[in-house]
Amino acid sequence: KLLTVTSNELAGKHLVITAGPTREAIDPVRYLSNHSSGRMGFALATAAQRMGAHVTLVAGPCQLPTPAGVTRIDVVSAEQMNTAVMGVIAEADIFIGCAAVADYRPTHVADNKIKKDNDAMHIALVKNPDILANVAALAKAPFTIGFAAETNDVAHYAQDKLQRKKLNMIAANDVSDTNIGFNSEDNAMLLFWRDTNNTVQQQALARASKSAIAQQILQQAAKLLSNNQ
Ligand code: CTP
Ligand code: CA
Repeated sequence: KLLTVTSNELAGKHLVITAGPTREAIDPVRYLSNHSSGRMGFALATAAQRMGAHVTLVAGPCQLPTPAGVTRIDVVSAEQMNTAVMGVIAEADIFIGCAAVADYRPTHVADNKIKKDNDAMHIALVKNPDILANVAALAKAPFTIGFAAETNDVAHYAQDKLQRKKLNMIAANDVSDTNIGFNSEDNAMLLFWRDTNNTVQQQALARASKSAIAQQILQQAAKLLSNNQ
């Protein structure tokens, strides 16, 4: 579909968006990662640019073309993604953490390829920085939007992340449904945000293309941002 909708709801706003998976090296030839395609984050970047925003997309390894007019920073690991985000976040009005950041990385990266010398092996892991929580905790935090991919108790876990990470908004989806979410064209989401009275509000976004879902998320964010100012 070549239908291109442009509007000015995000004119003059700077968005920083993370997208895709991260890769955590085990040795020079192996890594830990996940099935994120990056499509949701790239759809958000595309939609935000069309709504008039200046967009910086911090992307983990994914085979997707850079959306027109978007500044792209490619990274590999969670630590690199965190450093890249912190380097550009001061200018941001809105941050969207859409990347499927690996929660853990190998404690040590082997200098050489690990040989299969033993019948069993164990890889020690250490927690990665939580990029989204780091951004939300900044003294001058931008309007911060998180994503939550859950296989069960979606609403409960999403609202817990909204409160715990001090987010302005969270978009949750049920990844136990193999037809949507990770690695698919479509998505369906539950949006949660805190209103001016700090009461949690929610909106269900029916199954649609990732670009239609992206537009709806950004429209809601633009509305909340203008209410906050
Ligand atoms: N996130 C992040 N940095 C991390 C882990 C997650 O920025 N190290 C962000 C993701 O981009 C997403 C949100 O946090 O916007 C929620 O990710 P999710 O994996 O659902 O939550 P976690 O806090 O990692 O908790 P868990 O995996 O235990 O559910
Ligand atoms: Ca996680």
